[in-house]
Amino acid sequence: MFIRALQLILREKKSGITAPGSSAFVKAFSSASAFQSQRLAGKVAVITGGASGIGKATAAEFVRNGAKVVIADVQDDLGHAVAAELGGPDVACYTRCDVIDEAQVAAAVDLAVARHGQLDVMFNNAGIGGCPVRPPLGEVDLADFDRVMATNARGVLAGLKHAARVMVPRRRGSIICTASAAAVVGTAATPAYSASKAAVLGLVRTVAAETARSGVRVNAVSPYAIPTPLVMGAFATWLPGKSAEEIRRIIEVDMGVVDGAVLEAEDIARAALYLASDEAKYVNGHNLVVDGGWTVGKSSR
Ligand SMILES: NC(=O)c1ccc[n+]([C@@H]2O[C@H](COP(=O)([O-])OP(=O)(O)OC[C@H]3O[C@@H](n4cnc5c(N)ncnc54)[C@H](O)[C@@H]3O)[C@@H](O)[C@H]2O)c1
Repeated sequence: MFIRALQLILREKKSGITAPGSSAFVKAFSSASAFQSQRLAGKVAVITGGASGIGKATAAEFVRNGAKVVIADVQDDLGHAVAAELGGPDVACYTRCDVIDEAQVAAAVDLAVARHGQLDVMFNNAGIGGCPVRPPLGEVDLADFDRVMATNARGVLAGLKHAARVMVPRRRGSIICTASAAAVVGTAATPAYSASKAAVLGLVRTVAAETARSGVRVNAVSPYAIPTPLVMGAFATWLPGKSAEEIRRIIEVDMGVVDGAVLEAEDIARAALYLASDEAKYVNGHNLVVDGGWTVGKSSR
């Protein structure tokens, strides 16, 4: 698009016609931005964990880009409110879906197809942190491990299975799974959380090659720390005397990686948007880490 705009400018210069406002350059860019703002036009997405944080920001980004979304979560009031905020039943609806229960994941996928005729994008994003305190190995609670794995890993597998069930026959679709920087760096979280997110990467890599043969891509997105309710809750346990504002500053500024920039849920939404869109038509089995380079550095600060 950019090259096309430059070609038009050069052509205008040669012909000497440069009427301000009617410039082909401006028109090329207007149509480019119109195109860019509708990167998911006609697509239908299911977003688990879509009532809050990263899922909510992604639902908004997808709708802004022309998609219809089904928000699948266990927070009914929030989910309904987000759907209404995004424009109501024609573009966004809410369904209760506990990803621990395979039947509810299947039903969310079927709802998207029944309502809109198809499913193009599945964002397996629902997640929990589990016990926020990293215990000594001898005190690890295996029940907590099971709970975290059931939501973060098994829930993702259910999403992969049922999204593929409807996407493979159409021979198209994009499945995105939220992993974490903690899937890459061992010391970033508890064993349960890190293992569950590493499992997400394992699942993505395991199924990507299989589904690619049917035109369905599967990728992961791995965020670094963002002060969503999930992370704010964990930090409140670690730092009981601190206000929400102080905790937010610690996460955004003290733990920040890129000077002059703050990582926001919207950054993950835009990464998911890319993976969901046809611009990523050959990107498959990839883990798109959005961490300012934290996981490739030698030390964090
Ligand atoms: N915020 C971060 O720093 C960060 C970093 C890395 C990865 N992540 C991952 O991002 C994803 C989104 O988390 P977030 O940070 O936006 O937190 P969040 O708490 O704002 O959102 C998580 C959402 O998942 C929903 N959820 C939880 N269990 C569910 C279940 N069983 N079924 C359906 N929905 C369920 C919650 O109700 C909530 O709406 C999670 O997978 C999380 O592990 C977050």
